[in-house]
Amino acid sequence: MTWDPSQYLRYDDERSQPTRDLIAALSDVDPMKIVDLGCGTGNSTALLAQRWPQALLTGVDGSTEMLNQASQSGVSAVWHAADIATWRPDKPVDLIFSNAALHWLDNHTTLFPQLIDTLAERGALAVQMPYNFSQPSHTLINDIANEPKWVERLHHVVRSSPVAAPDSYLRILEPHVSSLRVWTTTYLHVLHGDHPVAEWTIGATLRPVIAALGDDAHTFIDEYKTRLTVAYPRRTDGTTVLPFTRMFIVAKP
Ligand SMILES: C[S@@+](CC[C@H](N)C(=O)[O-])C[C@H]1O[C@@H](n2cnc3c(N)ncnc32)[C@H](O)[C@@H]1O
Repeated sequence: MTWDPSQYLRYDDERSQPTRDLIAALSDVDPMKIVDLGCGTGNSTALLAQRWPQALLTGVDGSTEMLNQASQSGVSAVWHAADIATWRPDKPVDLIFSNAALHWLDNHTTLFPQLIDTLAERGALAVQMPYNFSQPSHTLINDIANEPKWVERLHHVVRSSPVAAPDSYLRILEPHVSSLRVWTTTYLHVLHGDHPVAEWTIGATLRPVIAALGDDAHTFIDEYKTRLTVAYPRRTDGTTVLPFTRMFIVAKP
């Protein structure tokens, strides 16, 4: 699977808002070493650098395309190519931050406690993940992928609920932490242009479908756009509203 940094960054402002909100929830954290897990193009890393200019930053990501973009972002950080599933820091870290990345990984029951174990004594794990997998932007992808025309080529990329319910993360993390906050926020993104919801998901959620279908992805996306028009009607002023729920977790050992 490949990422397309310029497509992802079309909605940079909207995608960065949860990073800003998560950083704002960390007013009692004073980290010297920060890891941005799934740093992507480095836009979350840039906001971390702005908030804690003295901290040593490491951006970890599995995508060469995204890391190339990050290394040209001008942000002072060590950029590290690795799989989050197996990457662990050599020494304890003060803040592990992850915006819109951990939903790409399975096994949160083991992953989250393992990340807590890599923290320094007064450290924190701060995570934001999309929690909108029951919305048409996502269910329509799965609906089309499961139709006879596509199912053989796409059954392996369909993930119906990559993120568990918020209270599951209480259960997963409570035995490992002294402090824990879990909450959700629904953003109402007002988007401009033609088929903005499809343009949004082409930048992220649809990447595995695009990788699996190659040139045929256009046919899939055309059908998806038709169905999205009904689910997300364009308003009289030409804009389209995309409600987007995200889950936030701040945990301290
Ligand atoms: C939606 S982007 C988020 C980027 C950035 N944190 C931001 O806020 O814009 C998700 C990133 O997670 C990375 N990612 C997903 N699964 C990964 C894995 N198993 N190991 C490393 N990186 C992964 C992708 O390569 C992608 O750059």
